Amino acid sequence: MEVKDKVVVVTGAGRGIGAALCRRFAAEGARLVVVSDRDESAAREVAAALGSRGIANCCDVAIEQDLQRLVAQAIQHGGHVDVFCSNAGITFKGGLESSNDEWQRMWDVNVMSRLFAARAVIPHMLERGEGYLVHTASAAGVLTEIGSASYSVTKHADVAMAEWLSVRYGRQGIRVSCVCPLGVETDMLDDSDPIHRYLHLHAISADEAAGSVIEGMRKEQFLILPHPEVLEFFRLKTEDYDRWVRGMQRMLQKLTRAEQKNESAAPLKSDG
Ligand SMILES: NC(=O)c1ccc[n+]([C@@H]2O[C@H](COP(=O)([O-])OP(=O)(O)OC[C@H]3O[C@@H](n4cnc5c(N)ncnc54)[C@H](O)[C@@H]3O)[C@@H](O)[C@H]2O)c1
Repeated sequence: MEVKDKVVVVTGAGRGIGAALCRRFAAEGARLVVVSDRDESAAREVAAALGSRGIANCCDVAIEQDLQRLVAQAIQHGGHVDVFCSNAGITFKGGLESSNDEWQRMWDVNVMSRLFAARAVIPHMLERGEGYLVHTASAAGVLTEIGSASYSVTKHADVAMAEWLSVRYGRQGIRVSCVCPLGVETDMLDDSDPIHRYLHLHAISADEAAGSVIEGMRKEQFLILPHPEVLEFFRLKTEDYDRWVRGMQRMLQKLTRAEQKNESAAPLKSDG
């Protein structure tokens, strides 16, 4: 799909990848870009920079009524929704010690938001016989994120949701892309975390990630991988799951040792 003349909605668009997607959609000639974020002033700033093509919306994606309102506002201004990008996402570090509240928040923002968005927008898309859903999941959704159990689990769930939507509605004109980047230079990368520092070494800019999304949408690809090495890691995983798990265990050990020695994780190679 070409986004020229399309009506596009992006959640979590006040900064980072979402803001870059909005700028790129506008540059590609989208008719209307609805810049939605929980942080209303950030959404307004991004929308203002798009001129007459951009409008701002305040929506917490963990709240179903907010998503219903977002879709209604987009239809009111644009007549319909061609592309809905479920991009907003959060992370908490930690494993078993993460609190139940943190797990619940991750589930609500990273997973239920995708369900709420699909429920709100798919009926309108089905009426028109076409529509495009873009999910920003993560490489953690096909591989894992060593430093965050809840991120790994919820991003796997997001990939599963995107797969299911594509299988269920693909023949009715609904296209789905699932974007699975490794590190992207946004506020989400926390350099005090050794795993994030490692991700930062291979990080791309948010604008580069947005460019990959445009390319992937042009080809209507289900899996959009802004870092091509993710495909290689994913293949290794499916070819020999046990070897991949052992490789990840080895990487964790190296990262932990490097942290203990207070060394840079720079020389590490992903051999997973
Ligand atoms: N940065 C990375 O390295 C990276 C890698 C892979 C995937 N991702 C995914 O990309 C997406 C965007 O992340 P980013 O790196 O741009 O992060 P970011 O923190 O820079 O931006 C996230 C935006 O989402 C908004 N947001 C947070 N919770 C929200 C909520 N409940 N409702 C509405 N908006 C909310 C924030 O206000 C912020 O503007 C996320 O889904 C993230 O998991 C990021």
